[in-house]
Amino acid sequence: MIGSSVRQSPAVSGTAEAVPGVRRAKDTTPRRRSPSLAARLANNAFLLRLLARPLRRFAPVLSIGRVVLVSRHADVLDVLERDGDFTIAEVNAATMDRIDGPFILGMDRSEQFTRERTILQSCVHPSDSERIRTFVAATAAQLVGAAATQGRIDVVQDLARPAATRLVASYFGVPGPDEVTMMRWMRVLFWEAFLNSGGDLAVRLCGEQAAAALHAYLDELIAAERAGLDRGGEGRDTLLTRLITAQADPATRLSDEGVRRNIAGVVVGAVDTTSKATAHAVDQLLRHDGALQAAQRAARDGDVQVVAEYTFEALRFNPLNPALVRHVARDAVIAEGTRHRRQVPAGHTVYAAVLPAMFDSAAFDDPNTFRHDRRPAADLNFGYGMHSCFGLYVNRIQIPELVAALLRCDGLRRAPGRQGRMVYEGPFPDRLLVDVAGPVPTGRAV
Ligand code: HEM
Repeated sequence: MIGSSVRQSPAVSGTAEAVPGVRRAKDTTPRRRSPSLAARLANNAFLLRLLARPLRRFAPVLSIGRVVLVSRHADVLDVLERDGDFTIAEVNAATMDRIDGPFILGMDRSEQFTRERTILQSCVHPSDSERIRTFVAATAAQLVGAAATQGRIDVVQDLARPAATRLVASYFGVPGPDEVTMMRWMRVLFWEAFLNSGGDLAVRLCGEQAAAALHAYLDELIAAERAGLDRGGEGRDTLLTRLITAQADPATRLSDEGVRRNIAGVVVGAVDTTSKATAHAVDQLLRHDGALQAAQRAARDGDVQVVAEYTFEALRFNPLNPALVRHVARDAVIAEGTRHRRQVPAGHTVYAAVLPAMFDSAAFDDPNTFRHDRRPAADLNFGYGMHSCFGLYVNRIQIPELVAALLRCDGLRRAPGRQGRMVYEGPFPDRLLVDVAGPVPTGRAV
């Protein structure tokens, strides 16, 4: 197995290059502190899959101290469905409130959650799919074309991260002061909001600085976009301008602060998730040669639907998060009616382990085999239940289009030796080098 390596965040020293998320493309400055065992484990899907087998079989609901690990598919669905017993506010709300104010991913079932998720949903239009596809396909072809002339592409820095940032600019309507700043903000904000459970001080400080800067930037942007809309038709059509327009109707009105909280939450969730998912999918395809070749044929035939099947099956082997975290709000029972039934006391933390669950043979035939056409398809890549991914309608299009653009290149292979190993910055893939002989000018995107 080709391994991966992790760089941990450094202490904040004040220089731009020393803080998390700031490195520019191709900058490979090593981090100073070595990564924790937990960070290494979380980024090692092979090891996680290996550990998942005995876990599912012998301890499907494993309690260690105040932590409960749930690994069978049926039990994971059950935990994520029972959003009154297993809640999220306790997990996410404090950090989210501190850096950006309340957002749906930090809210339990409530009037505010339903209202704000419904308003966001109402700003998505049926024609967006085609708009997103056209934009992403063109952006990906351009990025891959530019990088391919060097014979080597960094899947993260040359393709997925800038492409996702450009979609955030063009479709969500938040370009940021410049692309590099925007990429840094998005990374440290996501890291601090959702993944800094160890309380890394460098991540916290960078996150808070980025939050303050994004906050001020968005206040100005919202005012400018409103002024454009008020001048009549000068405003752009983006998710942000739709949220502003929706303020005219009491049913869909958010305060300006509400618009800012919601657009910030959405864009922070849109960049490093996409970049990580794309890097993981490409990495897994490179490990499954038959699948890689078949996916390349589909990409060259312009069949992005089939590329999507390969992409999301690849993601099953290394999903965005190996587990989703919930708080036990009241005494509850997991796996009621089974031999592994377990009482879990209020106050404990549950890890709904989606990676092990997606290798549970009770839900997936022959789970260790890579099958692009499996039914059901990998169903937990984008969460489950009330907090399932709002961006799914984008992900279904964007991630396969990014992967397809790469698959169209002749001679695609992992860069040799250590160079070809995926490198992480904390929880985020930061480099994945592939060699290519050049882009193939076929398929709908080019
Ligand atoms: C355009 C890109 C994306 C946007 C705008 C986005 C947005 C969101 C939002 C707003 C939520 C919270 C929904 C709620 O609480 O009701 C969410 C949840 C989630 N998203 Fe996404 N997301 C994006 C990309 C991704 C990608 C690429 C993945 C995985 C490959 C992903 C996986 C998830 C998961 C697993 C959850 C559930 C978290 C939990 O239950 O704890 N998202 N997303």
